[in-house]
Amino acid sequence: LPQKKTAPPTSKSSCKDCREKINKVLEQYSEDWKKQDEHFQKFRSQLSTKCHGLEKATITQANTPVGTKLVYDGEKKRTLQVNPEIFSTFFKGHPFPNKTWHTCAVVGNGGILVNSSCGKMIDSAEFVIRCNLPPLSNGYEKHVGIKTDLVTANPSILLEKFGALMGRRRKFVESMRSYGNSLLLLPAFSYGHNTPVSLRAFYTLEDFESPVQPIFFNPGYLHNLALFWRSQGLRTIRLSTGIIMTSLALELCDNVQLYGFWPFDFHPYSFQTLTNHYYDDRKTKTKFHAMPDEFSHLLRLHSQGVLKLHLGDCK
Ligand code: CDP
Repeated sequence: LPQKKTAPPTSKSSCKDCREKINKVLEQYSEDWKKQDEHFQKFRSQLSTKCHGLEKATITQANTPVGTKLVYDGEKKRTLQVNPEIFSTFFKGHPFPNKTWHTCAVVGNGGILVNSSCGKMIDSAEFVIRCNLPPLSNGYEKHVGIKTDLVTANPSILLEKFGALMGRRRKFVESMRSYGNSLLLLPAFSYGHNTPVSLRAFYTLEDFESPVQPIFFNPGYLHNLALFWRSQGLRTIRLSTGIIMTSLALELCDNVQLYGFWPFDFHPYSFQTLTNHYYDDRKTKTKFHAMPDEFSHLLRLHSQGVLKLHLGDCK
């Protein structure tokens, strides 16, 4: 019989290397956590000085008038001059009205959430941010919650799951129902091919009168945020959605709690193998993202009392 090359370690005893790796990570992590207001304020003010997330994270009719030249953050040579038609798709008003939230939960999609029972705790946050249209029903609710105030959508999902919104669109609109009347944040001006599909998402939601409110990332903000993290020592081609949303949350919220951030194959406490996402095992594109490096920055912020990273179960 042909032999399998390697059997993935499935039990504690077969996971020696990963134990060492995980123990190293855990050395810097303590479940006992207290917010250090001085550190928090310092980090927030560095972020807001360089990125101005409160006013500039998203495109609005107020901050991006007709005639503005948008520079795509993923393709620096590509620009787009805002015309009245595109302008009409921009958010009217301010998505983050002049106040900060008391507590925000930023929910990453890591397999660490499986059987975590963190749903209630996540939903108790005043503002809940999720990434990449994650599934919330079919038994996930208990572990990831259901409340959603802001959810991002990578256009690749729209291409793969909804035929790039070129055909019938009802399925897309129906699948948005689980996100209530949340903001749907799209990186419409990161790469050229993101723009038409993001506009189709906008028109679809408007035409079907969906309560979900589409809004576009401001490419200038994403550019500044990449520079900010580079200045913090993070080397990556593209920031992951999770670190982008965490950064925004640090400007928007006085208490930031992270769930579902754990870019490793084994659970930190049970050492059970984990899938990459709580809902599938699709791997991260390591060519673009450096999630373990990002994670060490998040871990540092946890240790400094800037944000709280949840790794354990919430029972
Ligand atoms: O689109 P992207 O690859 O950035 O994200 P995703 O796989 O949909 O997951 C959302 C976010 O959760 C990521 O951007 C990471 O920050 C975080 N994540 C993690 O920390 N550990 C994992 N195993 C998977 C995701």
